[in-house]
Amino acid sequence: MTAVIYKSKYGSTKRYAEWLAEALGADLLVRESVRAERLRQYDTLIYGGGIYAGGIAGISLLKNCFPAAEGQRLAVFAVGAAPETPESRKALLSKNFTPAMAEAPLFMLRGAMDFGKMTLKDRMMMNLMKKMLDKKPEEEREEWEKNLMSLWGRASDWCDPANLQPILNWAEN
Ligand SMILES: Cc1cc2nc3c(=O)[nH]c(=O)nc-3n(C[C@H](O)[C@H](O)[C@H](O)COP(=O)(O)O)c2cc1C
Repeated sequence: MTAVIYKSKYGSTKRYAEWLAEALGADLLVRESVRAERLRQYDTLIYGGGIYAGGIAGISLLKNCFPAAEGQRLAVFAVGAAPETPESRKALLSKNFTPAMAEAPLFMLRGAMDFGKMTLKDRMMMNLMKKMLDKKPEEEREEWEKNLMSLWGRASDWCDPANLQPILNWAEN
């Protein structure tokens, strides 16, 4: 049995989690209302969270409870606005994965970003990030930072069920 557990603020991780659960015939669980003990009954866990300032939303659930059961398999998908680069993958792994999760594959998917729909707090945070970045010399800016800022002020949506194919391949093996 497989569980897809997700945490999503603006809905893109939720969309991916729903598509995935449907394709796999898996249980769909919301991070906020899942109890760690409940995860024991599954042989495969797939966790998805939106990326916020380099952190995968809700990932602490796994830090506290994985491995939940002997022989349990885990995969993580992280949904962000910036496209994947070797550097962004490395940064995401080092910030979010514990040694117990080292074997788990990390899938990076592009979600959506709409400045018009953001909470005031998130818009302020994005403004702050932009101000900091504007001050950074061009050559010191990281690839994902440049990418994020190139999306400034617009509404973009990259969610596509086709992006889930690598996760489906992993889950079905
Ligand atoms: C305050 C804020 C910080 C963000 N930080 C990042 C980031 O560090 N890297 C990235 O790729 N995307 C970042 N994003 C974009 C989100 O990850 C993207 O919108 C994603 O689709 C959100 O998924 P969710 O709606 O399921 O939570 C950020 C968005 C906001 C509002």
